[in-house]
Amino acid sequence: MSPASGGPRLVLVGPMGVGKSTVGALLAQRLGVAYRDTDDDIVAAEGRAISEIFVDDGEERFRVLEKAAVRTALAEHEGVLALGGGAILDADTRALLTGHPVVYLSMDVEEATRRTGLNVARPLLAVNPRKQWRELMEARRHLYTEVARVVVPTDARTPEEVAEAVLDALEK
Ligand code: S3P
Repeated sequence: MSPASGGPRLVLVGPMGVGKSTVGALLAQRLGVAYRDTDDDIVAAEGRAISEIFVDDGEERFRVLEKAAVRTALAEHEGVLALGGGAILDADTRALLTGHPVVYLSMDVEEATRRTGLNVARPLLAVNPRKQWRELMEARRHLYTEVARVVVPTDARTPEEVAEAVLDALEK
């Protein structure tokens, strides 16, 4: 499966900690293309960590930066692209994804809590991870599904198995 013209070979969406960067790098290797992550693009452009942007400028400002980063990466990048877990919250960002081969890497709340734990580097999970995960996923699950061509569950799978499942799903 490839996009209508140019653009990434595939775009990974899904919650933080689901393994987008690990699986994305494996997929890029398998496909012989480059891996890119819009979080990294934002950090490079801003010269500060995502957590600093959240603290200094707030989530709303971060989403504006993220939208611009997604727009640029979709136009420039022809490899594997991973988006930050909350990129799909913005309706304009979701619209940008139309026509692209978007893969939703999913995981259930228990798995998410186990994988990320109490992670202060992730500003959206710093207080009560399980409760925050439940709320996050309730608010976001349908948005991931809306933008995705395929959904690949990651629970109880290694990154290699997830990458394999992504390639299988895209071939169908
Ligand atoms: C966020 C996910 C993070 C990062 C920021 C916000 C979210 O990206 O963009 O902390 O709202 O879910 P990862 O999914 O790459 O961790």
